[in-house]
This record gives sequence, C-alpha cells and structure tokens, in this order.
Amino acid sequence: MSTRTIRIGLCGLGTVGQGVWKHLTANRTALEDRLGVRIELAKAAVRDRSRARSVKVPAHCLVDDPMSIARDPSIDIVCELMGGTGIAKKVTLEALSRGKIVVSANKALLCESGAAVFAAARKGGGRFFFEASVAGGIPIIKALREGLVANRFRLIYGILNGTCNYILTRMAAEGAGYPEILADAKRLGFAEADESLDVEGWDTAHKASILAHLAHGVWLKPNQMTVEGITKITQADLRHAATLGYGIKLLAIITRDFARDELAVRVHPTLVPKDRVLANVNGVFNGIAVVGDVVGTTTYIGRGAGQDATASAVISDIADAIVLLTTGRDVTPVESAARAARTVRLAPPERLRSRYYVRTTVKDRPGVLAQIATVMARHGVSIESVIQTTSERPNAASLILTTHESDERAMGATLAALGRLRSLLESPLLLRIADFSD
Ligand code: NDP
Ligand code: HSE
Repeated sequence: MSTRTIRIGLCGLGTVGQGVWKHLTANRTALEDRLGVRIELAKAAVRDRSRARSVKVPAHCLVDDPMSIARDPSIDIVCELMGGTGIAKKVTLEALSRGKIVVSANKALLCESGAAVFAAARKGGGRFFFEASVAGGIPIIKALREGLVANRFRLIYGILNGTCNYILTRMAAEGAGYPEILADAKRLGFAEADESLDVEGWDTAHKASILAHLAHGVWLKPNQMTVEGITKITQADLRHAATLGYGIKLLAIITRDFARDELAVRVHPTLVPKDRVLANVNGVFNGIAVVGDVVGTTTYIGRGAGQDATASAVISDIADAIVLLTTGRDVTPVESAARAARTVRLAPPERLRSRYYVRTTVKDRPGVLAQIATVMARHGVSIESVIQTTSERPNAASLILTTHESDERAMGATLAALGRLRSLLESPLLLRIADFSD
C-alpha cells in the first residue's frame, strides 16, 4: 500500500508561520514515522513575497493570496497564521465550508466569531483546531477538553499573555523602562502586531473567552468581562507590592458559581502572594491553575509566546489533524447545536469580592490621611495597611493602602469619592489582591 501524502498550506509566514515551517521541516521524518504519512509543506501565503525570511521556502510554494490556499482542493490542512479578524476570518470560513481542517493560532478571531467558526465547521464538514490560541506551548486546550473532561470547573485563573509577563518581570527585576522592554518583546516576536492588544489586556481577554468556552460551553465577548491592562503599573507599584509580600501579574480569572448558575470572567493586574506558584512564573512564561471538582487543582507552566513554543502547539494540532484524516479518530468532535446554543447568567461585576491595593499621590500636609480614612470608612472599606513614601512631586507624598475584603461596588464608590478630595494629586490606582482558596 502506498503511503498517503498530507499537503499543508500555511496562511502567514511571520513569527509563528516560520516556526512551523522550520520545525516541521527539521522533524519531518520523525513525525512521518509516527503518523505513517508523508508530510508536504505545499504552499505558504504572505503579503510580501520579496521579504527576507528566516526559513528557505521554494519560490513556487509562495503565494500572496491566502484564499487560494483555502480553495485549493489538493490542500488537506490549512494553517491560519496571519492573525486579525479580517482576511483571517474569510480564509477560515472558506476552508471550513469546503470540509477542510483549519489549524489556527488566532485567539482574536475565536473570541469574536467562535460561534460562527464552529457553525461553519458543522455545516461544511470541516474541523477547527486551536491549541496555539491560548498560552503558546502549554497544551491547555487538550488538558481541558481531554485530560480533565470528568470535571466541572469552579475556578480557572492564570497568566495568559507572555508579553505582559515579560514586561512586568523585567520592570520588577531590572528596573528597566516600559518602552524599552516592550520594544524587546516586539523584537523577540512575543507581542501582537498591535501591541495594545497585549498591554491593554484584550489578548488575555480573548484567551480567557476561549478557556471559558471550553470549560462552560458559552462564548463571552470582552465587553462582558472586566478588562484592565498593565499600562498604569509603575516600578514603584512593583516595589511596594514586593514589600507587602506580593508579585504583580496580569491574570485572567474565570469563576463559575454552580449554585447560582453564574459565570464571571475578569482580566486585571493582580497582587499574587510571593509563595504562590503563579507569582514565580516569570518572563515570557504563562501559568494556569485549573480547579476541577474531581481532580482538584492542576497547574500548567510553559512558554506562552514566541516562535518555537507556538510552533510546537500548531504542529501538535497538525498531528491530530493527520490522525483524523488517516484514521477518522477525532479529538475535536464537532460541537453539537445544543451545546452551541447554551447560555449562562453573568455574575454582576459589582458583587465580586477581593482585598484591594490603592495607590495615590496626595498633598503632604496634616489631616490628609485622616480624610482618606474617613472616606473609606464611610463606604464600609476597612484599611489593612498604609505605606507613605516621598513623591517626586514637591510637597507631595505617595500613599499605598491595602484593604480588608470588600467588593467592587464599595471600592468603585470609594474611588469616586476619593477622586473628589482636593488633597489628592492623581486619580487613585486600584489593584486586586489574589486570595484563591483552591
Ligand atoms: P506576524 O505578524 O509575525 O505574521 C503574520 C503573517 O501573515 C506574515 O507572514 C504576513 O505576511 C501574513 N499576512 C498578513 N496578512 C496577510 C494577507 N492579507 N495576505 C497574505 N499574508 C498575510 O504574526 P505572528 O506570526 O506573530 O502571529 C500570527 C498569529 O498567531 C496571530 O493570530 C497571533 O495572535 C497568533 N499567535 C502569535 C504568537 C506569537 O508568539 N507571536 C503566539 C500565539 C499565537 P508578510 O510576512 O509578508 O507581512
Ligand atoms: N502576544 C501574545 C502574548 C502571543 O504575548 O502572549 C501569544 O499568544
């Protein structure tokens, strides 16, 4: 019997696409042995065919129309590695409508149009694989879908953006400036083409939406979540947090209250106690804790962005796709219409409870601290600790307060009232303090 050849088309040959080309070429023989097929990297679509690439791609393989790959009947697997929600969506839907397998790293597209993507797969007979869309090289999609299938998940939380974790880690460790570190994250291929997706928290929200879908069967949009990024975090915040015994991490937190049938998804910088695993997940690494009702807590750590880690995830999907093509064994069963139609109530954000860190700059004169304490007491917010340091501004002081547990409604009202005090010289920054009872 002759060996079947599987033809793969890459739409996009940037950071991730070149990684997939490089590692599939280097490990082709081993993969072919394992999977019992011949693998051919048949086509790659780019915007600019004249651009120098770090991989050698024969000229006849390069095209500038990704749709031609989606429509090519000789291509078995289409890898969508362009990003965005424009042409990427058209290519994905076209390939799925033709019954093809699409492998994607595109979390923005999934969050925006996940329901439409899976509906197109159902209708056209295609399949959609997306391991690389969350947490780079960590096989978290497989873990939730396969390894943890016995569980219901009351809590999933983690660091899902490599760029932000890289920036916060270096700001804390070296005292290097934010713009310089962000430029390095871009150079290293960690950041999105539009880096505001990373630093404003949207990329983490896209990934949280995918995890929430896997765990709870519903698609949430970022406007149904609390989303805050890292742009307001200063080196002083990182220093103060360290003094208080915390690291600052951008976390996605997905909580499900089964008794009330409510779901809450939030993304925000969070003070994590230094003795917790996630506080020690540094640099481009991501870390995710999944609390299952059967298994307890499992934690996953690995590189969350960059060429090689992401290529590893894409190639694992390609391997699953080849198994599906050659044996019919499907690790991503098409979602049923019933599951696709599922809804869940959103927990009102103002009810969420936490301890809080508040930083502000005030006029350095008698009575100011008492004014602040009075405002907080009036809103039922109990102060746990106060640090006062000198400010760079003349006749001013930096104040860092932590609170006992309160809720978002009380803290929102407190901040609004503090903002009206004439002794405050800047709007207060509010951060949540993690206290996960796994
Ligand atoms: P890049 O910007 O490095 O690469 C994008 C590629 O797509 C380029 O080769 C570009 O061509 C090509 N492209 C874009 N638009 C078109 C078009 N209209 N027609 C043809 N080709 C096009 O992005 P990344 O590789 O970093 O990211 C790709 C995807 O992977 C995104 O969805 C991203 O979110 C996701 N991802 C990225 C990770 C990372 O660490 N970088 C990690 C996990 C997921 P040209 O080279 O000619 O400009
Ligand atoms: N820009 C993303 C990050 C890429 O930094 O995590 C990986 O999804």
